Amino acid sequence: MDMAALHDQADIIRTAFSYINRFKGHTFVIRVEGSLLTHPFAGLLLKDIALLQKMGIQIVLIPGARSRIDEVLASEKISCEKINNIRITPEDAMPYVEMASFDVSNRFMTLLAENNCDAIIGNFVKARRIGVLEGVDYQCSGMVEKINASRVTSLLESGIIPIFPNIGWSRTGKPYNISSNELAFTLARDLQATKLFFITDFGGISAKGYDIPEGVYVSSDTVISQLTAPQARQFLDRNREKPGAPAYELVTLAYRACQEGIDRVHIIDGRVEGMLIKEIFSNRGLGTMIYSDPHENLRTASHQDIPDMLRVMQPLVEEGFLLLRTGADVEKAIGDYILYEVDGTLHGCGALHVFSDKSGEIAALAVDKTYTNFGIGKKIVVYLIEQAVKKGLKRVFLLTTQTADWFLQFGFAEVTVADLPPEKQKTYNTKRNSLILCYDLEIHRKKAGFGAE
Ligand SMILES: CC(C)(COP(=O)(O)OP(=O)(O)OC[C@H]1O[C@@H](n2cnc3c(N)ncnc32)[C@H](O)[C@@H]1OP(=O)(O)O)[C@@H](O)C(=O)NCCC(=O)NCCS
Repeated sequence: MDMAALHDQADIIRTAFSYINRFKGHTFVIRVEGSLLTHPFAGLLLKDIALLQKMGIQIVLIPGARSRIDEVLASEKISCEKINNIRITPEDAMPYVEMASFDVSNRFMTLLAENNCDAIIGNFVKARRIGVLEGVDYQCSGMVEKINASRVTSLLESGIIPIFPNIGWSRTGKPYNISSNELAFTLARDLQATKLFFITDFGGISAKGYDIPEGVYVSSDTVISQLTAPQARQFLDRNREKPGAPAYELVTLAYRACQEGIDRVHIIDGRVEGMLIKEIFSNRGLGTMIYSDPHENLRTASHQDIPDMLRVMQPLVEEGFLLLRTGADVEKAIGDYILYEVDGTLHGCGALHVFSDKSGEIAALAVDKTYTNFGIGKKIVVYLIEQAVKKGLKRVFLLTTQTADWFLQFGFAEVTVADLPPEKQKTYNTKRNSLILCYDLEIHRKKAGFGAE
């Protein structure tokens, strides 16, 4: 028996388990190029999608029907012009466009049925006409106006895969031909998906023919492996003259998705067997991943920031959430503070104070009230924990009066005063009687994939 191969297998299974736990209950929006249906691996791709669904990941499927529409229109001898990759859909073409779109969706539904997966094709998309742009009437070509997200969510929660053909309806029931790429983006945004996939018939984003920003890694087969959202912005700015190219369109949508809170967008090759699961269950993706930089907007504080930091903290001090800190207190440990800032405006701050027993205290965590519930607090805490790991600390602790429940989500657990570092025990205010929460970084180090993938 080859022990090395067995060891590798065990490692793969361990990694897969950690990802399964991580993504259970999360929503993945998957847009699949319809032309892949004729590819020998189509059955395997749908089998993998069905597996993901059975593992507890909520799947939304959007088939692209462009090649099938081309086929049907050609057989009916109807020609349609395309401008910037958008089809102008005349009234007489629309019944055939609908027919082709539903045909592709039906074929995906059949493949899911073969894998014992419940799926539904619905009319959950409201659309309106694109109208006349620069003198061109796009006729029955439309754009997404609204999605009935709560209806889709309840389908997902009951274990059904909703399939969305690229058709949307006006309020009076008139059908429009909409872009399946745009539809996938809108669904991912409105359902706050964890991941958005574009499974293409041409691979990831090829660097060939594009002006690539510095620092972007291009693989030996010329595919751009990763782009942070700011790099995607630079890519778009440098290649403005190519708006109709499919790769340009996908990077645009991926960038917009990152701006709307989707952490990761994957553009992968549907012609390669197992590409989807490899992309999800391994640390090294094989297509192009466009992702929001989790540390974007975070920076270390400096002396000039103190008045602004006190401004954010003051109302929370008054409400008893935070201890009073003077400018001089903050000044003394200014290197410990980090800020979350957007376009020069301070939204939140936090600090990591290091103690001699290799523990760290998360303190002065404050998010400006105008900006709460946007995930800023979470980003600050995750960043401070990462800093603590980098500094080689064994644990982080914090004192809180009213925010214990919020911290539990990160894995903090309640401890006693005796567990604090000796110097902190001396200053513990028994009158304030704060709860003490602790997070073990040794356990954290053993957990696979925290904050990375
Ligand atoms: C706690 C705090 C940092 C959260 O910041 P934030 O940017 O709003 O946090 P996030 O957006 O990451 O998380 C928001 C979620 O936490 C929940 N939440 C906020 N405060 C909470 C609390 N005290 N207890 C439990 N849950 C809380 C919100 O209801 C929201 O829930 P939802 O996602 O289900 O809608 C912020 O509200 C704050 O500054 N509080 C006062 C200061 C404080 O308590 N600091 C900690 C002492 S060190």
